[in-house]
Amino acid sequence: MHRLIIGVLFFVSSVLADIHPIEIRGKHFYDSVTDEPFFIRGIDYQPGGSSDVTDEKDPLSDVSVCARDIPLFQDLGINAVRVYSLNPDLNHDKCMTMLASAGIYLILDVNSPLINQHLNRYEPWTTYNPIYLEHVFKLIAQFIPYNNTLGFIAGNEIINDKRSAQRSPPYIKQLVGDMKGYIKAHSPRAIPVGYSAADDLKYRVSLSKYLECEDKGTHDSSVDFYGVNSYQWCGDQDFQSSGYDKLVDAYKDYSKPVFFSEFGCNEVTPRKFGEIPTLYSDRMYHTFSGGLVYEFTQEVNNYGLVSVNEETGDVYLLEDFEALKNQYKQTPHPTSTDLKISQDKSTSRIVNNSPACTNKYTNLDITAKVVPKLATEFIRKGVKCDKGKYVNLDKSDLTCNSKYYDANGNQLSRSPKFSIVNEVGSVKLTGPEKKASNSGNGLRLSRTNLILGCSMVLGFILDIVSIMFF
Ligand SMILES: *[C@@H]1O[C@H](CO)[C@@H](O)[C@H](O)[C@H]1NC(C)=O
Repeated sequence: MHRLIIGVLFFVSSVLADIHPIEIRGKHFYDSVTDEPFFIRGIDYQPGGSSDVTDEKDPLSDVSVCARDIPLFQDLGINAVRVYSLNPDLNHDKCMTMLASAGIYLILDVNSPLINQHLNRYEPWTTYNPIYLEHVFKLIAQFIPYNNTLGFIAGNEIINDKRSAQRSPPYIKQLVGDMKGYIKAHSPRAIPVGYSAADDLKYRVSLSKYLECEDKGTHDSSVDFYGVNSYQWCGDQDFQSSGYDKLVDAYKDYSKPVFFSEFGCNEVTPRKFGEIPTLYSDRMYHTFSGGLVYEFTQEVNNYGLVSVNEETGDVYLLEDFEALKNQYKQTPHPTSTDLKISQDKSTSRIVNNSPACTNKYTNLDITAKVVPKLATEFIRKGVKCDKGKYVNLDKSDLTCNSKYYDANGNQLSRSPKFSIVNEVGSVKLTGPEKKASNSGNGLRLSRTNLILGCSMVLGFILDIVSIMFF
């Protein structure tokens, strides 16, 4: 094998890989094309806080914000972001194209704090209605077409105390079933639907069992994955002292993927993220498929990795950012060899291993009767909305005028670079285009990287690395 490094100044389409959908087989996520297991290394992303979703903007509607933050995601070394609230009436094509090009997947909650866009945990019957369902289905319909939509989260910590545990469980299950029904009817691939649970010993395991089970004969309302919000590793801890050993015990027999949908205790600061090597080690990766660190931007609750100056849009990388980045850097991604699964076994896709439901789940009341069939017409007809698609990006889309600073307030000498790792649909970055000329016999481009700076206005550098001869 012969390797050449060539730097060229034009964009070569057709040499980058597609963005591969992620799918679930048994207890793990897999890249549906390479068959390698996929472990979530991500962050929770809701700049401006949960209430910053309006008629005009949301976290993935502002292209310049995406151009500012996605190079930082890549610098951090993540492969997924979770976003809590989006407005399905806004356009997200450019940000989704950018994320996909950067190799980053989206886990999307379908709720928002706005009226008619979430379930009321104490009186769910007042909020489980057609207006709410339409909101949920519009989001799903819009995000189905993107290959980098990894999954949908039906609810976040809806059950968090005794009263909500008595009233909400059947509503969550119904909603999960509605969402799965919509996807089954309208999506070419099975996009997973899950739930994100509060870290409460009283409910987290029984709720996981209730949401995992399937009522044979009715439509499938079992979750495809279970997210656990966990803030129990604070400061210097280990597998035992943090209680992670008990978490593994609690979920080791779960039939579906489990991951931390939020983690990163901030009782001891700055955070060192010492849990990262443990989370992706053999003590945990058989049970947990990684996790999402809470959270990217600094908000009032003090969990940020970066702080954003609202006036200028400039970004300050906090100590936590560097600490997390270094932890990721030294922590390898578990492979199929680590999991000891043969490719044969891992490729068997049709496994339905949801256990059957029982009548009782500890500390939960599951007897409430939910109005049936509210979703039927929506599912049959489909909802009206702008369906997402990957689009062309040009130089101006990838240009941002924000500056980056380190924790001490010194401007970074090199701005983080946006690096394109996937060719997404028709994405073309303007600039002279040229086909890869297959000179010689059987030149094959195996991997390319197009590196762009957020503040780089002129010139695109395409580095074709690893040109293989065979
Ligand atoms: C999306 O995934 C499918 C299935 O792997 C693939 O055929 C298609 O090319 C992908 N699309 C993009 C834009 O990457």
